[in-house]
Amino acid sequence: MIHIREKLDEPMDVMILPCFEGQSSGDETLEKLKAAQAFSGKEEEIFVLPHLEEKVSYTFYAGLGTQEDFNGDVLRKVIALCVKRARALEGVKLGVQICVCDKLCVGGNVKAITEGSLLGDYTFKRCKEQPTKQELQIYLTGIPKEKLKRATQVAEESQKVAKGVMIARDLTNEPSNLLYPKTLARRVQQLGEEAGFEVEIMDQDQIKDLGMEAFLAVGGSSERQPRLIVMRHRGAADTEPVLGLVGKGLTYDTGGYSLKPTDSMKTMHSDMGGAAAVIGAMYAISSNQVKKNVIAVVAACENVISAGSYKPGDIIGSMAGKTIEIGNTDAEGRLTLADAVTYIIEKEKVDEVIDVATLTGAALVALGTTTTAVITNNQAFYERLEKASEKTGERFWQLPNHKEYAKLNKSEVADLKNIGGRHAGTITAGLFVGEFVQDKPWLHLDIAGTAWADAASGYFGKGGTGVPVRTLYTLVGAPCPCHEKK
Ligand code: BES
Ligand code: ZN
Ligand code: ZN
Repeated sequence: MIHIREKLDEPMDVMILPCFEGQSSGDETLEKLKAAQAFSGKEEEIFVLPHLEEKVSYTFYAGLGTQEDFNGDVLRKVIALCVKRARALEGVKLGVQICVCDKLCVGGNVKAITEGSLLGDYTFKRCKEQPTKQELQIYLTGIPKEKLKRATQVAEESQKVAKGVMIARDLTNEPSNLLYPKTLARRVQQLGEEAGFEVEIMDQDQIKDLGMEAFLAVGGSSERQPRLIVMRHRGAADTEPVLGLVGKGLTYDTGGYSLKPTDSMKTMHSDMGGAAAVIGAMYAISSNQVKKNVIAVVAACENVISAGSYKPGDIIGSMAGKTIEIGNTDAEGRLTLADAVTYIIEKEKVDEVIDVATLTGAALVALGTTTTAVITNNQAFYERLEKASEKTGERFWQLPNHKEYAKLNKSEVADLKNIGGRHAGTITAGLFVGEFVQDKPWLHLDIAGTAWADAASGYFGKGGTGVPVRTLYTLVGAPCPCHEKK
């Protein structure tokens, strides 16, 4: 729960004072700490000062680094680290002094502190008895009187966005014996009721009737049958454009007959990280009643071995009518996305498409775990993503889409093949999906490296990250609450 204050007189477990490096402040204790070289204010440094028998139990001097390198994402990270530290000291009532400067206004402060504290406090709770955690009470102080109302609105909006991220993290963290197509669909239905978006679920027979042969080749043979999940948020007039979001929804990817080794397989319940992100984004968009039309589609299934599973060498069809030669059954994501993209364009009539997918290990090799790989057919669309990402701190990097790469997906025996060879794996996988987007502006986000964290850092815990929920939300064109200056 976030509280907005002009001044703070209440007792607090912890008072967090963010401080810049190399800048003098009016705070006497802080200046003494700096003179004694006990604290310098460099980014992520925290000095914990206990107080005995006072209204505030601890003061945290929290380093922000230099003002030159400062932005909302630095504050988001620093606050998350302070919250983790405060929890270790059993603090639940935390005051935070906002730090307005020419890099970050009041709204930007409220947004970063709200998101940083909630996301930093996240743990995956479903599968282990947890010591009951009292809800955090965050008191933001230093808000000018005339901005109190606006700050309250920004805090409310940011809490819903943070909840969207945490929904995505929860879904990504859940193991595949609990979260499979049918249970995922049920969860989306509940979220739709809570947030206000419409949900339609199609079962295997309906998927067959739609002609989604590529999707069914992957998921049609599992006992846990596939579901096509459609979410609709109508925030604007019917005459306004519709953005389509498509999330890869492999609730488990064994690789199929091109079986993965155990070590690569064991986190493959997170192969629905793209689906989780679009579901989390729909939650944030709809619960904040954003005045835009957005439709999201998830082709949910699992890629397992059974008597009816597809095999290397098979030639399959697709909803778009293109035939596909299977070179490797572990390149399954692009097959499900091909049909989901065709569905969202032909049946839902969207005007532009973003697909989000844990698609290739090659994305991890190229960009590591901090940056999402992007392919597009429309530079202006990419620039919108880039602009949104500057506000959220989630990182993206565009890869080339030259026609020489698309040639690598051509087959001698079918229209396409599902592996493009040894090289440029992230590009060929993306361009395979691009074969199905017709003439629509399209962004492909390969989150194989960014959807899952092997270790906690900043506002991330170990496990699902919820990337890129916040950027999708921002890109959709929610009125920007932050007015962050660059
Ligand atoms: N789900 C994987 C990609 C992945 C790898 C996600 C690591 C997260 C972490 C995808 O379905 C896959 O297996 N891709 C293959 C493609 C190859 C067979 C062309 C890969 O990347 O090895
Ligand atoms: Zn795979
Ligand atoms: Zn996969």
